[in-house]
Amino acid sequence: MKTNLLSIFSLIIFLTACSDENISDSEHAVSIFHLPIPEGFPEPEFPTDNQLTKARIELGKKLFYDTRLSIDSTIACVSCHIPNLAFSDSVAISPGVKRKLGFRNAPTLANVAYLGKKKVNKDGGVVKLDLQAVVPIEDEMEMGFTIAGLSKRLQNIPEYEPLFQKAYNRGADPFSITRALGSFLRTLISGNSRYDQYVNQKKENALTESEKRGKTIFFDKVNCGNCHHGHNLTNYEFANVGVHEKYADRGRARITLDEKDDGKFRVPTLRNIALTAPYMHDGSIATLEEVIEHYIIGGKDHPNKDPRIQPINLTEADKVDLIHFFESLTDSAFINNQNFLPNESNSNAMKQ
Ligand code: HEC
Ligand code: HEC
Repeated sequence: MKTNLLSIFSLIIFLTACSDENISDSEHAVSIFHLPIPEGFPEPEFPTDNQLTKARIELGKKLFYDTRLSIDSTIACVSCHIPNLAFSDSVAISPGVKRKLGFRNAPTLANVAYLGKKKVNKDGGVVKLDLQAVVPIEDEMEMGFTIAGLSKRLQNIPEYEPLFQKAYNRGADPFSITRALGSFLRTLISGNSRYDQYVNQKKENALTESEKRGKTIFFDKVNCGNCHHGHNLTNYEFANVGVHEKYADRGRARITLDEKDDGKFRVPTLRNIALTAPYMHDGSIATLEEVIEHYIIGGKDHPNKDPRIQPINLTEADKVDLIHFFESLTDSAFINNQNFLPNESNSNAMKQ
């Protein structure tokens, strides 16, 4: 993330460079792929210049699993966003090229289709999902490459040419690379956990009695749902929950440069939360039990701490129920979805 300024700078160049040539989809016939949306979920927005098609999703998936997206061909997106961990990672900080370490925990990619504007990344530093991929590609702690260098590299790989043409009617360039990745990311929808089966599909027996109690504790007894609510269990706001007394990472303030935003991070989704340890922006809390202890004491003192974060009373039985509720958010159909896994010819990164 050291190259953040550089990345933002190149994003701006890239945005302006692309704005004239954004061929709207209406100008060339595309056969739209209708993404199945779970019950209780709104329809995500698809950008007018990047409607979803099978060719785009397939190309994006191939890129997601391809280590050639990094400067030395060692790191792919999947290196840090692992499918059976709901596309998160098991370590606090994931190593990038040459084992370099950034400073944030790799989040789940479930339901990123719903991020909307100015909410991408924990500090909201990227304005739309289709531009996010430039950050890891150019970050020297992650893939250490440039989007221009990557475009050239992919233009010289014969197997990619027909795929880019089919998807975007053009070769590999910053526009088509980022849009293809965005298309694949939008298909990563998780909405069929037992919690969904209970709440949205009205299957009374989908949750155990303990999980139901945990749900009531979460939403009614201690009001976690103030921030973690809605179909993705987040209100998408930025909040400081007192993870540290002094934050090494300014969070939202890195973007706004306003000290009132120090230590504020986008409220994360809790979908598949049992699979995405360690927790918080820096992975500094190892387990869900410890997250609960964090909220019981009301977090650490910080001038920006949200007033809704106060010490709470939970019995030992409540804590067990709450953990069971978290586990009911695991969507096994999501993590086992074969559509998200690489095709045979493209599984190098997975085997490592
Ligand atoms: C070295 C590890 C690493 C690699 C490689 C990596 N990511 Fe990430 N990814 C992260 C981290 C850490 C964050 C959180 C960054 C932040 O919030 O500032 C993140 C955030 C994201 C987000 C935003 C999610 C959200 O909730 O806002 C998306 C989307 C994403 N990555 C997609 C990708 C794609 C696509 C690639 C490949 C081009 C990729 N990542 C490569 C570690 C990585
Ligand atoms: C004021 C809004 C707010 C309230 C209320 C709140 N949270 Fe959070 N929660 C957040 C934010 C923001 C983060 C991320 C903080 C960070 O990374 O520094 C978070 C992180 C978490 C995480 C870790 C997620 C991850 O992927 O790392 C869990 C689990 C969690 N909260 C559970 C709860 C529970 C349980 C309660 C009720 C006791 C609760 N939250 C109440 C805003 C809130």
